[in-house]
Amino acid sequence: MLNLTGRVIMISGANRGIGLAVARRLLDGGAKLSLGMRDEAAATSLFGDTQDIILNRYQARDAGSAKRWVENTASTFGKIDGLVNNAGISQPAVSLMDDDETQLDEMWAVNVKGPTRLTRLAMPYLAKSGSGRVVNVASLSGKRLKNSNMGYAMTKFAVIALTHATRREGWDQGIRATAICPSFVRTDMTSEVSRVDPNEMIQPQDLAELIHTALTLPNNAVMAEMLVNYTLEDMF
Ligand SMILES: NC(=O)c1ccc[n+]([C@@H]2O[C@H](COP(=O)([O-])OP(=O)(O)OC[C@H]3O[C@@H](n4cnc5c(N)ncnc54)[C@H](OP(=O)(O)O)[C@@H]3O)[C@@H](O)[C@H]2O)c1
Repeated sequence: MLNLTGRVIMISGANRGIGLAVARRLLDGGAKLSLGMRDEAAATSLFGDTQDIILNRYQARDAGSAKRWVENTASTFGKIDGLVNNAGISQPAVSLMDDDETQLDEMWAVNVKGPTRLTRLAMPYLAKSGSGRVVNVASLSGKRLKNSNMGYAMTKFAVIALTHATRREGWDQGIRATAICPSFVRTDMTSEVSRVDPNEMIQPQDLAELIHTALTLPNNAVMAEMLVNYTLEDMF
């Protein structure tokens, strides 16, 4: 397994939910973190006083913020070893027959174009690492359609395509990419889901443990996709 100590990992949307749980787990593991979030000033109290974290403004719809974040990470820590593309949104259901494409465009910008841009910008640094890692927080909605929210599912299928493209592009430089595909996780995103008890859902800390594993597997033991469920469905 790779030792996380001193490795520099970027995480988007690390101010709450899954991203925050991942940041805490990786900090425990000795990583240096470069966190991207829309309101970095509001997050200063989340991690206490440590030299091992820098907070950066990241707005997925703003290409300039992605570039500044990647450049600031490399200039502060001198390298980038990993990227966790976590920030994402689920708008109210966008079904096939909706003729207003506003929400679809918004989800596409945040869930797909944001991670694609960050990956592209980080690739040269990840290649230098020799064991660069990318974990994309996709969803089981990227593996199957269970309801009418086609728009969210489309973006998560696309995140899985991004993951496989990253694997192909970076393989010879030691870059390994994993799409983690959870069902319901207990976060703000699922707070409106009333048919499942939040205690029954996947807990963010448990997902963070799996993401930690994906980031520490060696170059020759690779998981392209991790499918994670709290309940029984056909095949997962
Ligand atoms: N919860 C689930 O059941 C579940 C299941 C499968 C996959 N996922 C995926 O897991 C990831 C994290 O979700 P979560 O459950 O932790 O949700 P969450 O608690 O709602 O957190 C979402 C995160 O994304 C950030 N974000 C939203 N829009 C952004 C933008 N335009 N630019 C930059 N950051 C933005 C949020 O920042 P602000 O605080 O500024 O809004 C927040 O940090 C998402 O990609 C989601 O699709 C979640």
